Amino acid sequence: MFDSIRVRLTVWHLAILAVLQALLCVCIYDYISFHLNQQVNGILGNVLTSVDQALGKPEVWNADPQVHAANALKLVKHTETPIAIYDATGNLMAERPSGAAHITHLVERPLTGTYVGTESENLQEHLGARRVAVRFSVQPRASAGYFIAASTSLFSRVDELRTARIAFLIRVPFMLVLTGLSGWILTGRSLTPAVLMAERARSIGADNMSERLTVLHPYDELGRLALALNELLDRLAAASVSERQFMADAAHELRTPLSIAQTATTVTLMNTDGTFEEYRSALQAIDNYLQRLSRSVNDVFRLARADAGFKSLHVEDLYLDEVVFDAVKAARMLATHKNITIGISTMESCPYRGDEALLHEMMLNLLENSIKYTRPCGNVTVKLMNNANAYEISITDTGIGISEVDRDRIFQRFYRGGPATMLAPQKVEGTGLGLSIAQWIATSHLGTLELTSSGQHGSTFVVRLPCNGDGATT
Ligand SMILES: Nc1ncnc2c1ncn2[C@@H]1O[C@H](COP(=O)(O)OP(=O)(O)OP(=O)(O)O)[C@@H](O)[C@H]1O
Ligand SMILES: [Mg+2]
Repeated sequence: MFDSIRVRLTVWHLAILAVLQALLCVCIYDYISFHLNQQVNGILGNVLTSVDQALGKPEVWNADPQVHAANALKLVKHTETPIAIYDATGNLMAERPSGAAHITHLVERPLTGTYVGTESENLQEHLGARRVAVRFSVQPRASAGYFIAASTSLFSRVDELRTARIAFLIRVPFMLVLTGLSGWILTGRSLTPAVLMAERARSIGADNMSERLTVLHPYDELGRLALALNELLDRLAAASVSERQFMADAAHELRTPLSIAQTATTVTLMNTDGTFEEYRSALQAIDNYLQRLSRSVNDVFRLARADAGFKSLHVEDLYLDEVVFDAVKAARMLATHKNITIGISTMESCPYRGDEALLHEMMLNLLENSIKYTRPCGNVTVKLMNNANAYEISITDTGIGISEVDRDRIFQRFYRGGPATMLAPQKVEGTGLGLSIAQWIATSHLGTLELTSSGQHGSTFVVRLPCNGDGATT
């Protein structure tokens, strides 16, 4: 039962309210009790003062203490309060009404000795709850003073306190029941979106990834949670789409050379009268396609491993200028048949920590593109410099450029730009993975790879690698 947030919230709510209500009741009860006490003490105090003053008046004076006391009582107005006057040894001198001494004598303290001020005692027996107050009155003319005792019933005080207790006993449980009910209903209403979200989330799977959680109130906590979960679903759906796309593209890329190689093999095998040269050239073609296939498989495998988070970097101390120089040297061999010149301007001794083989491959992919997409007799320029605590390698070509539409997509896997597939003077071979791999290498060294400019007169790609990059992120 306590697994439900609704039950837990209601119980907590009730428990806190019960404690607060109990504290409040105790405070109010104490206050009422104190206030009534003050009232009773005030009444008794007034009576005692009146009697004390009456005893001091000259017109009531009599040498006989009984007459003196009786005369004084006649002047006191508080007729509803029983009063008794005793001499200093505790003998009754006068009382009003008759029998008042019976009440006032119930004071446990013996009326002997001299004490000044008001003494009060609560009496719960015999006559019901009463309070008696006693004061010693010093009278200069009398040989000794008097004890004055007055008593008042506590019935109304007790009654008021009982009424307060009954009110609390009825009010508190009633309030608790009401609060419990309202808490139960309110938490139920507040948690409804969470229940709906859970039901909807349970129904979303791979087949209906486009469905989203219902957002009832977008600005409250649950609404924000639903929005965050919807964003998560968006990202998962996008990842799933790109994964499917990747699989489809990879299958397509692998199937084409495979089926061509298979057809070439079948045709060659059927040609039983072929010459040595014919067989050789058929094998050559099959070898070409198999090489292309092998390269594609390697690239796909590498990207898949990178996606799965494999740490495939072999980080070591190296000189970036040497890596760039080696890559340019290798690229020059590719460029000779198109008569493209590759110029290089690098800083000397650029120490760096990274994976030399991967950095070489990144440079080669970029240089290979520059050669592939530049017309014969063009130029490619490679620059390495240090800018704002990062190495910047720019590769600029005088090639065919990249259209506006393609610029955002060339880093996507298997994407091949328009000119690469149709507009180039001769069809340019490739799988569309070179830039994806180059970008992955740059980011795995905590760097970036961007196309910074492109137009009719060529393109510039820039790699930025932080100088202290340790390149060990994937
Ligand atoms: N220097 C460049 N000049 C013009 N277009 C380019 C350049 N570099 C890349 N591109 C465009 O970007 C696309 C993607 O390049 P990417 O290197 O990923 O694939 P690819 O070169 O077609 O194939 P491969 O996988 O063999 O490298 C290319 O098809 C081409 O359209
Ligand atoms: Mg390429």
